[in-house]
Amino acid sequence: MTSEVFGRTTGCGELRAKDVGHEVSLAGWVHRRRDHGGLIFIDLRDRSGLVQLVFNPAKNPEAHRVADGLRSEFVVAARGLVVARDPAMVNPKLPTGEVEVMPSAVEVLNESLTPPIYVAEATDTPAVDETTRLRYRYLDLRRPRMQRNLILRHQVTMAVRNFLDGHGFVEIETPMLTRSTPEGARDYLVPSRVSPGRFYALPQSPQLFKQMLMVSGFERYFQIVRCFRDEDLRADRQPEFTQIDVEMSFVKQEDVLRLMEDLVAELYAKVLEKKLPRPFPRMTWRQAMADYGSDKPDLRFGMKLIDLTEAVRESGFRVFAEAAAGGGQVKAVVAPGAASFSRKDIDGLTEFVKTYGAKGLAWMAFEAAPAAGQGATAPATGGPGAAPEVRSPIAKFFSPEALADLRIRLGAGPGDLALFVADKPAVVAAALGALRLELGRRLNLIDREADRFLWVTDFPMFEYSQEEDRWVAMHHPFTSVRDEGLPLLKTDPGAVRAVAYDLVQNGIELGGGSIRIHRRDVQERVFDALGLSPEEAREKFGFLLEAFEYGTPPHGGIAFGLDRMIMLMAGAETIRDVIAFPKTTSASDLLTGAPSEVSGRQLSELGLAAKGDQG
Ligand code: AMO
Ligand code: AMP
Repeated sequence: MTSEVFGRTTGCGELRAKDVGHEVSLAGWVHRRRDHGGLIFIDLRDRSGLVQLVFNPAKNPEAHRVADGLRSEFVVAARGLVVARDPAMVNPKLPTGEVEVMPSAVEVLNESLTPPIYVAEATDTPAVDETTRLRYRYLDLRRPRMQRNLILRHQVTMAVRNFLDGHGFVEIETPMLTRSTPEGARDYLVPSRVSPGRFYALPQSPQLFKQMLMVSGFERYFQIVRCFRDEDLRADRQPEFTQIDVEMSFVKQEDVLRLMEDLVAELYAKVLEKKLPRPFPRMTWRQAMADYGSDKPDLRFGMKLIDLTEAVRESGFRVFAEAAAGGGQVKAVVAPGAASFSRKDIDGLTEFVKTYGAKGLAWMAFEAAPAAGQGATAPATGGPGAAPEVRSPIAKFFSPEALADLRIRLGAGPGDLALFVADKPAVVAAALGALRLELGRRLNLIDREADRFLWVTDFPMFEYSQEEDRWVAMHHPFTSVRDEGLPLLKTDPGAVRAVAYDLVQNGIELGGGSIRIHRRDVQERVFDALGLSPEEAREKFGFLLEAFEYGTPPHGGIAFGLDRMIMLMAGAETIRDVIAFPKTTSASDLLTGAPSEVSGRQLSELGLAAKGDQG
């Protein structure tokens, strides 16, 4: 195509007051078109932003005629003069809002069908449903917000590479067609044509390869790498996602945490121009579970879990006394200002905690004291003159002194609502941990602007799987254990602590890693504790065990979820908004239609038959 007009001199979003009086050539998409009886206004959009074009029929009838035919998402080129807007017409919300362009010539480079979604519409308006966004992803990605998210992602990966390169890391690719890796999710399998009946697994992570690269002497490895896990999907989980994967030789936990904290702080400083408070706080897993009922506490608000097991051991409320006597716990959270919750609200919360296995939800509402008189069941312990009355179905089981004592332990003031769960520690943690988050959201306690990082350390090495009726590795079986745990491997696996750590941001697990086992004898003892026979261990991980016999340096590392990191940096609600072509929660790609059926010929070449085919 030969074009008179086409020949871009500047980006639409770059024009400023200083450009007034210049002739420019622009190219982009019609973002919006308004016809003000005579004058036609076009917002022209390219990657750099928007600028307003004004077509005046009196000044340039030919350009006005072309503009009259423009519709949303047409691709056009325009040449014209940059002019200052009338002071009354300046748009302070738009970077180019002080100027507009008066085209002397305009040309349609390509037309567009009426788009099924309007690029000019914000993604968070209810009118925009995600199914249509994913089906027409190429249009959705034209949206300024989506462009910003993906450009942010690019800036972060560039900064990661620069930082790690500057610290002596080498980026090395590892196979996608490989053997099953032990990250604990279900594998995506790929059938082999040349070895019928055999399968590759797509890597859940490059864990074993990065350890072998340490055996190979690379000392500092990284990779920005796709991982595949067939698991239940949520807002922060995709079947394929990206890790910033790191491994280092001759390091202790402290070296890894310090360097990785430097990395995260540098990303925030360079890309977002935000200075993160350092050092990041640290908390042991045990403390996190005790105070927040979660191994990934959201520190943007308080409302810690309060342990009342000892205080209620002797109480007349059987549910509490029995839980305490039976090795369980009684814990509570205090929801500030929630004493006004209705019965219906509390019934709703009771149903909520039941989904986490709790059998019920006891409560005490601390009312503000009546202005005169003293009918309260609890003596005054609060603020000046405040003697809150307790409203609670279980108050009758407690003496006034016991109630006053509970209230002090709870730290509850007038207007607060305490909510109790009595059960096994794991159920108490799950139920109250989730309730804390739910109430934090509902009561608007979460500071949305805050970024609260936290290292969680000293994870247990093993957790008991009821499903499999055996101990399984909490992180993965190559995680080293603290020396004092070695003798407990056989006798008390639950007490063994791993040299494993997670980085948590705003209640989301951003990354996890560990110092690894680097000696074959220790690795074999851990496999043994996991109930893996030497034969099974050799069958599954023989290649790694063998590598460990040829001079393996002590090593450790970590992997960050890049998608989650960008989601948090961009303030997005889901990782789908920071992935160009994501999958739905049922793992399908609405744009290409994957997964799709394949031909019988493809299947038979692979030595496979789809169940439906066999009839
Ligand atoms: P882990 O399994 O903890 O560790 O994964 C590391 C980080 O990857 C992110 N992540 C995910 N992000 C999106 N969708 C998913 N389905 C998903 N699953 C995990 C999380 C998580 O913290 N090999 C070890 C790392 C190591 O030990 O070095 C590993 O993969 O942010
Ligand atoms: P009940 O005596 O069963 O009527 O229960 C009295 C209150 O205790 C109700 O509000 C129940 O929801 C609550 N409750 C019952 N079981 C538990 C439990 N395990 N932990 C906390 N509260 C409970």
